[in-house]
Amino acid sequence: MDRITFSVNGEPYSAGSEVDSDETLNDFLRIRLNLRGTKYMCKEGGCGVCIVAVTIPDADGRRTTYSIDSCLTTILSCQDWEIITVEGIGNRQRYHPIQRTLAKYNGSQCGYCTPGWIMSMYSLLENRDYDVTEYEIENSFGGNQCRCTGYRSILDAFKTFAKDTPKPSLDDIEDLKLCKNKRNCNKSCEEDWCVVPRRGKVKKIYLRDHKTWYRVNEINDIFQVWRNEGTDSYMLVDGNTGRGAIHIFEFPRVLIDISAVYELKIHYLDQNLIIGAGTTLTNTMKIFKNMAEIYEEFSYLQKLYDHLDLVAHIPVRNVGSIAGNLMLKQRDMRFQSDLFLLLEAIGAFLTIVSAESTVDVTPQEFLSIDMRGKIITAIKIPPLSNNYKFASFKVMPRSQNAVAQVHGAFLYELDPNDHETVKSARILYGGLSKTFTHAYRTELFLKDKKLFENDVLQGALKVLHDEIIVEEFPGMLSPEFRKKAALGLFYKGLLNIIPAELLNVRYASGAVDLRKYRPLSKGTEVYDTNPVLWPLNEPMPKVEALIQCAGEALYVNDLPTQRKEVYCAFVTAKIATGEIGHIDPSDALSIPGVLAFYSAKDIPGKNILISGRVPLYDPQILLAEDRITYFDQPIGIIAAETEVLANRAADLVRVTYKKDNKKPLLDIRDVKMFDPSRITLYKATPAEKEPGVDVHSVIRESENIFWQYHYTMETQSCVTRPSEEGIDAYSASQYPDMMHLAISELLNIEQSRINLVIPRCGGAYGAKITRSSYTATACALVTYLLNRPCRFVMDIQPNIRVIGKRLPCNLDYEVAVNSIGEIQYLHYNLYQDVGYKDNDPVAFLAVPGVKNCYDKSRWNYSVFSVTTDTTSNTYARSPGSFESVCMTEHIMERIAYELDLDPLQVRMCNLNSEYTDVRDVLETLLEDSDYEKRKMEVADFNLKNRWLKRGLRVAIMSWPGTPLVDFHIYITVYHGDGSIVIKHGGVEIGQGINTKVIQTVGFILKVPISKIKTKPLDVASVPNNFSTVASRTTQAICFGAIKCCQLLLDRLAPVRDTIKDPTWENLVQAAFEQGINLQVSYQVNSNDQEPHRTAGIALSEVELDILTGESHIRRVDLVEDVGTSVNPEIDIGQIQGAFTMGLGYWTTEQLIYDKETGQILTDRTWNYHIPQAKDIPIDFRIKLRKNHNPVGTLGSRSVAEPATCLAVSVAFALKAAIAASREETGFPRNQWFNVDGTYSVEANVLHSQVRLEEFLYR
Ligand SMILES: Cc1cc2nc3c(=O)[nH]c(=O)nc-3n(C[C@H](O)[C@H](O)[C@H](O)COP(=O)(O)OP(=O)(O)OC[C@H]3O[C@@H](n4cnc5c(N)ncnc54)[C@H](O)[C@@H]3O)c2cc1C
Ligand code: FES
Ligand code: FES
Repeated sequence: MDRITFSVNGEPYSAGSEVDSDETLNDFLRIRLNLRGTKYMCKEGGCGVCIVAVTIPDADGRRTTYSIDSCLTTILSCQDWEIITVEGIGNRQRYHPIQRTLAKYNGSQCGYCTPGWIMSMYSLLENRDYDVTEYEIENSFGGNQCRCTGYRSILDAFKTFAKDTPKPSLDDIEDLKLCKNKRNCNKSCEEDWCVVPRRGKVKKIYLRDHKTWYRVNEINDIFQVWRNEGTDSYMLVDGNTGRGAIHIFEFPRVLIDISAVYELKIHYLDQNLIIGAGTTLTNTMKIFKNMAEIYEEFSYLQKLYDHLDLVAHIPVRNVGSIAGNLMLKQRDMRFQSDLFLLLEAIGAFLTIVSAESTVDVTPQEFLSIDMRGKIITAIKIPPLSNNYKFASFKVMPRSQNAVAQVHGAFLYELDPNDHETVKSARILYGGLSKTFTHAYRTELFLKDKKLFENDVLQGALKVLHDEIIVEEFPGMLSPEFRKKAALGLFYKGLLNIIPAELLNVRYASGAVDLRKYRPLSKGTEVYDTNPVLWPLNEPMPKVEALIQCAGEALYVNDLPTQRKEVYCAFVTAKIATGEIGHIDPSDALSIPGVLAFYSAKDIPGKNILISGRVPLYDPQILLAEDRITYFDQPIGIIAAETEVLANRAADLVRVTYKKDNKKPLLDIRDVKMFDPSRITLYKATPAEKEPGVDVHSVIRESENIFWQYHYTMETQSCVTRPSEEGIDAYSASQYPDMMHLAISELLNIEQSRINLVIPRCGGAYGAKITRSSYTATACALVTYLLNRPCRFVMDIQPNIRVIGKRLPCNLDYEVAVNSIGEIQYLHYNLYQDVGYKDNDPVAFLAVPGVKNCYDKSRWNYSVFSVTTDTTSNTYARSPGSFESVCMTEHIMERIAYELDLDPLQVRMCNLNSEYTDVRDVLETLLEDSDYEKRKMEVADFNLKNRWLKRGLRVAIMSWPGTPLVDFHIYITVYHGDGSIVIKHGGVEIGQGINTKVIQTVGFILKVPISKIKTKPLDVASVPNNFSTVASRTTQAICFGAIKCCQLLLDRLAPVRDTIKDPTWENLVQAAFEQGINLQVSYQVNSNDQEPHRTAGIALSEVELDILTGESHIRRVDLVEDVGTSVNPEIDIGQIQGAFTMGLGYWTTEQLIYDKETGQILTDRTWNYHIPQAKDIPIDFRIKLRKNHNPVGTLGSRSVAEPATCLAVSVAFALKAAIAASREETGFPRNQWFNVDGTYSVEANVLHSQVRLEEFLYR
């Protein structure tokens, strides 16, 4: 039987009939080889945690190293590949320079994304022979995401490998090159050239799941397979990345790997440029660049290169082919194929070969061809003379790794005599509707007209406006926006090609494409550190940084698979509200390998996810019993032998419902309108003073903000195993005590029979406080009922649909102000959407955020809870306080607009004079940021530019920190060598708790930190802990650690007196010999901590493209008071990460629900967009204000969450930029407009309200 052979980290391996057709390289590495350094999350090429390096023979025989997404690669595609994983480049015996550098720069927080970053960087350097610029490095990570770091530290680390870096800090760049070519290669090699057998026999493998895999070498082989197998059920597999774009539920019967077909990979110049249709997008870009440089008639290909640089990202482009891309468009006409757009615009042809014929067709004609039994073999790209003018654009919700919301490509053939009269025009769009591609009527209208005349432009816009058809696509932005942006792109295209002398210079900014032009970003971090105190206050990387960079850090899903282990998936409701009728799992259970279906009635104890015995919480059910309360509510659990099977089978469980005869109420506006009885007052705080009488204006307003998905790279995960006395559970949780109780009550067994271990969390941000119990209770139930080990790692789609998000809010207010903006009275009603059940109390966290840093003595404010027909919402970074601080900041902005005042002045005249720390950070910022000068520069820029607008705005906070209760710490000293182990009740979620507690213990005991280790939390040794939340756990744990150290020192004191100049080691040995207990413990309680507030301020400057809604953040200055930081480097990382998460909330992240059904439509990396490396501020300056906090542990303050609130400054700056444009359209400069939520590309364009008549040349 044929097998596919390849190597992993130099060791030879093979795969054949024992694998299923959907077994990926990722599965093979993680499950078969137990190489768990490579992670997975989205399984659709979106997140990058699965990236590995592969060295592949190219068409010309040269072996080149590329990054690829191992989640998209079928293991059977790996013939002749050398695969390198994070374990293969370095490990604890000798870490790789990239691993060491990223660790040194603090580029890893929770660490879950880190191996993917390392392998992307490694592949880039190998691919480019270590010859890359800073800019190229920054541009290369479209395929990697990180939710923790805010990217600054990662980019700074990787730029040290650039050839143009000002001061390469890497001591061992030569060392790095030495690692090259060290791997075993069992082929005959001459440098990078390998002789790979090209022709050979077709490989045929019968797979475990009864599919047949062929690996063919020639086009003829494909036809032979079709002759033998028929064409009823087959798929050609090239890069196999198409499954990331359009998911494949189950592969067809016959799979034909065509990636080795040489004829599909070649290119040559005939009259046209002929490129094999199997050429990867990366190689296509290379070919385009070369051709553009060499041949004038192909110089336009540089523009296609620039556009392709925005397609997917490097790992997808490295294996994804042109034909594969075009076929996706064939399969689903909604797919926004950039290749189709560009090829149709330039007049390319596709060569289609069938058993009977070879035809050349246009891409447009290709869309209506039945491709069964046919192959695209080549693309013919025409030369174009100078008379042709080309431009193309892609409107993306973020800078990289996003399909177009709308894209356009324009080719005009101009009269060679006057360079203005149109001989022909090709106007192409994608993303608008299933059928609309060419704007034929506009093309016709322009023929023989002078393109650069205002009236021709206006005439064309009218025709285009009337002919464009836009459809509603689930999960995409509104048709209204897409149409407006499409018209904007048409104008932008013309601004790109018009001779400068024909254009009023004010309009020139409309030609700029922000997605293709972004300067290299940079950051500065300023803080004090006092070496006298070190290791306290010492800026140092996290203790886990290196193991995270090497893939050695263990997460729940990295536990080795056990024999007979099973996997879970939730069966979820397909209505929003109603009753369950009948559940029929028989179809699912009939699939071999699907083992069981459990519903609420199978639960031996209480059907709960959250125990009512945890302070503050009410019980909440795990599985719906009769009543459904939100779309995708879990109603059952499938257990199967593989994860793929479990997820597939879950979709096959048939459920009948009695649906309520009403539309679901999905947000607070719905509830206020249709069912106000769902609103409950949490707390009303009356004003302390009578209203002021100096009333100049009274403003009444209502503002809404919406959900935020946490986007942990490690989704909700749990592994459970039968143990001697009950169950061993390993979970990613911020609140082990809650989970422990829930499992115990659900299974009706004592807590003592459940061993719960929390290794660490791969991102949490509040999502794993209560919601991690979903997977933990379900997983434990399956283990209990089947008596088998079980693994439940939620796929991203159920993770988004089932798990609660940040609470949406609505603010109704009435404020009266005097002429300088000082508040005379304020009535402030904040409504928080808790979802279907007020389960995770957040309102009490919102209340102290309302006043923010302002004098609230004349403020009446109330906080309400509102239930909606959505999943129950939960804590998200700075829960409650984020919403209330931002809403209060909104009011300050609103006042400034009303009175046409500087918003900073409005804030200053309302400041609470007792908050001197706020005034301090404000003054520091004003000094450092050149505020007044830059305000003028922005105004001047806006005056000179019609289509790019800038905004400069501030946000201030006094962030309320809440004391926490009940944490256990114990410290053990080993007498043999004096080494120390700390166990504590906090969870390492990326915030650096372990590092800080080690620094603290080292400081108090005067012991080198290398002697001190922390161990993962287990409930047998540190029980009954509160959750790791609210940015205070580290302080609490450090407080407890200090108490432990003091106890220990007290015990050691009498011994110390008996030894002359004792070293730590002989002191503890002597104590041991005297029978002194070297283990100490302490329980931190609420009396040990006091509330405190964290002051901070940010000034953000943005640049907005009014035509597309895309923006850059040009600069952010941020000052935060962190007290005496235990570790300023970690704190800087927390601030960068927090700000970036807030940035995502205000600019790119948007959940879209189906208003009729209540289903979430944005449930993939594909359509839920967190910021990526090129979305962060281009210039990000952070300063820590050192100001000893008298009530914080060792003088520190809360850091991890507060800066999230400051990102609202970006929203205000965008609003200011929009307002600057609106003023030119005719709206009063200070007229307020409600954006209600994310300043997405859609909001930015629609709120600008530009009129088509404003699209002019002169
Ligand atoms: C995360 C991500 C982001 C993306 N972003 C974008 C984007 O922004 N813009 C964009 O345009 N695209 C985007 N894509 C799509 C990407 O370009 C395609 O996935 C890729 O080009 C497909 O090539 P492939 O070789 O992997 O095809 P495969 O997945 O191997 O095949 C796809 C389909 O094409 C058929 N096929 C393959 N080769 C041939 C052939 N020679 N003749 C006939 N049929 C053939 C196969 O049978 C299969 O049905 C993205 C994809 C991912 C995963
Ligand atoms: S798991 Fe492969 S890209 Fe997300
Ligand atoms: S460190 Fe990147 S996701 Fe946590």
